[in-house]
Amino acid sequence: MSAPEGRELAYAKINLSLDVLGVREDGYHELAMVMATVDLADTLIFRHEGEGLRVESQVSFLPTDRTNLAAAAAIAFQKATGRTIEPLMIQMDKHIPVCAGTAGGSSDAAAVLRYLNRVTGAELSLQELQTIGERVGSDVPYCIMGGTALAEGRGERLTALPPLPQCAVVLCKPNFSVSTPALFAQIDRCKIRRRPDTNGIVAALQAQDLQGVARRLYNVFEDVLLVRQKRTVESIKNTLVNQGALGAAMTGTGPTVFGLFSEVTAAEAAYKELAEYYPNTFLCHTV
Ligand code: C5P
Repeated sequence: MSAPEGRELAYAKINLSLDVLGVREDGYHELAMVMATVDLADTLIFRHEGEGLRVESQVSFLPTDRTNLAAAAAIAFQKATGRTIEPLMIQMDKHIPVCAGTAGGSSDAAAVLRYLNRVTGAELSLQELQTIGERVGSDVPYCIMGGTALAEGRGERLTALPPLPQCAVVLCKPNFSVSTPALFAQIDRCKIRRRPDTNGIVAALQAQDLQGVARRLYNVFEDVLLVRQKRTVESIKNTLVNQGALGAAMTGTGPTVFGLFSEVTAAEAAYKELAEYYPNTFLCHTV
C-alpha cells in the first residue's frame, strides 16, 4: 500500500452510568452503560515507511509490540480485509491517561481502524468496522462510533443517544491503578446494592436536561473498590461537588473520577484544587 502520512484523533470517554447485569456464557459480563465522548484526545500519526508494523509513544511503559491495542487493531483490520497495511509506523502522542477507565487504548484502536478503512479504500461500513473492533476490545465498537450512546451486551450493542448537553468536564485520575479483570471478578463476589437509573439518564438526555443526567451519574464498580481506593474516589467526588459540579462519578473500571459543570469558572477552580494533588487532572468539554 502506498499512502501519504496521516493523522487521527482518539477521544477519551466517560461513563455517565455503568451497570453490570450478570455473567455471560463466554465469561464476559452483560453490561448497560451510557457513555459520552470528551475532548481529551491522543493524536495518532501514521507513516508508511520502514519495515513491518511498529507502534511508538512517549509513555515508556506502554507496550510497543502487538499487545498494544493500536497494533492489535491494525492486525485485525489486515486479517479481516486482506489488505496490506505494512510498512506502517503508528506514532501516538498520548494525553489520555493509561489504564484509567477512559478508554484510551480502545480509542487508539478505533482511530487506527477508522484511518485504515479510509486510506486502504476498503470502505467498510461503520457496522463492519465495529465487528472488527469487537475482536480487539469490548469498548472499541463504541469508540469507533463516538458521541453519546447506550452500550449493552459486552459493550458492542450500541444505541446512539442525543448528545450530552454542552458542559465542562473535570477528569481526575487518582495515583493508583485498578485491574479491569480483577474488578469484574470482585463484582461477581458481591451483591450489587445500588444500581444506576439507566432509563432515567436516557430520558434526561432525550430531554436535554443536564442536571437530570448529572444527578443520576452512577457506576456499580465504585462500590467494590478496596476501602482505601473508595475513600480516595469519594474524596475526589466531594471536591468536585463542593466546587460546583452538578454531579460526579467514576468512569469505567476506574480509577478516574469526573464531574460535570455548567459553569466554566467552577470547573477551573475544581481543576486547580485537584491538580495540586493529582498530576493526571484534566479540564475538558463534551465533544
Ligand atoms: O474486552 P476487553 O479486552 O476490553 O475486556 C477486558 C477485560 O474486562 C476482560 O478480560 C474481562 O475480564 C472484562 N470484561 C468483562 N465483560 C465485559 C467487558 C470486559 O468481563 N463486557
